[in-house]
Amino acid sequence: MFARSAARSLATPARNFSSSAARQSKVTVLGAGGGIGQPLSLLLKLNPYVTELSLYDIRGAPGVAADVSHVDTKSEVHGYPADKLDQALEGTDVVVIPAGVPRKPGMTRDDLFNTNASIVRDLAAAIARVAPKAKVLVISNPVNSTVPIVSAVFEKAGVYDPAHIFGVTTLDVVRAQRFLAGVAGTDPKDTPVTVVGGHSGATIVPLLSQTPHGKGVTGEVYKKLVHRIQFGGDEVVQAKDGAGSATLSMAYAGARFTGDLLRAINGEKGVVTPTFVKSPLFADQGIDFFSSNVELGPNGVAKIHPLGQLSKEEEELLAACLPELKKNIEKGKKFVQQS
Ligand code: NAD
Ligand code: LMR
Repeated sequence: MFARSAARSLATPARNFSSSAARQSKVTVLGAGGGIGQPLSLLLKLNPYVTELSLYDIRGAPGVAADVSHVDTKSEVHGYPADKLDQALEGTDVVVIPAGVPRKPGMTRDDLFNTNASIVRDLAAAIARVAPKAKVLVISNPVNSTVPIVSAVFEKAGVYDPAHIFGVTTLDVVRAQRFLAGVAGTDPKDTPVTVVGGHSGATIVPLLSQTPHGKGVTGEVYKKLVHRIQFGGDEVVQAKDGAGSATLSMAYAGARFTGDLLRAINGEKGVVTPTFVKSPLFADQGIDFFSSNVELGPNGVAKIHPLGQLSKEEEELLAACLPELKKNIEKGKKFVQQS
């Protein structure tokens, strides 16, 4: 069953998986004081699979933790200041990373590399040392490079399991569902869209032809819809006018993906959603990370699905995606090699 109703992914275990049957899951948010981190922490507090919520930031995490801890769900919440990263990570099952700077108008995600690459590298090194078996969900941009960075750091530390490291591309799926529903006049929850590739501009490839509502969209409407899905992030950056990028919709998307993973970790079968992982799909072209539908399981990545049949337009989008994605991945790997 493919990624499903938002509300269920966020908070409610599937039928037959009562919250009392759930095993203990400690989830740590690195960057919990930020624009994404705060609402993401709140949404994770609502997830019954989360038994312990560990909130870390170089600024403000204890305050966010005190605030979120009053929400009347069962999980325990702990906040950790800058010098307590190891304590925040001890015994954690899942780490979500929204730490790092966001874009301002006129910037690309790649422009964030100089600042965010070292933030993500250093956090990954701490996770590899303290919680090497944790599943790591990377939100920090540029995702196309930060996921290879985390993977290379784990590899260097001798603890790399490719099934454990995910780039969160769920916001592209959320936008695709919302924007297609707007065009098709449907409810977004009945309008699933698979989005593949990476997470920036031309590397974002929506497979509209594979959906009942998307395959009828053609011509100018199709072109505009694809552009909006690929550049939805820019809409928010421009509207926020220097005050950052998507935070609330990203917190929702991050909580949705974390919820999907927790359901799979807790034994639910058939949880399938796009995510950017180490992938064989284009490895023969030197592109060893790619987002496609992935079945999640107790150990993280259970099965990577092929792309399926593409339309002529989607073949063209994919052709534009691959060279840019390759550059982004190589940049991340090189950064760790030279560190
Ligand atoms: P923000 O500036 O509001 O928050 C970032 C937080 O990270 C801050 O609280 C900051 O103190 C913290 N931080 C910085 N260095 C840290 C470190 N070494 N350890 C722990 N915390 C640290 O930014 P935001 O709007 O929350 O965005 C965060 C990142 O998420 C950006 O890189 C942004 O581009 C990215 N993002 C990704 C997606 C996606 O779809 N994957 C969507 C939106 C934003
Ligand atoms: C997004 O897609 O909203 C994020 O990647 C943030 C950004 O910089 O656009």
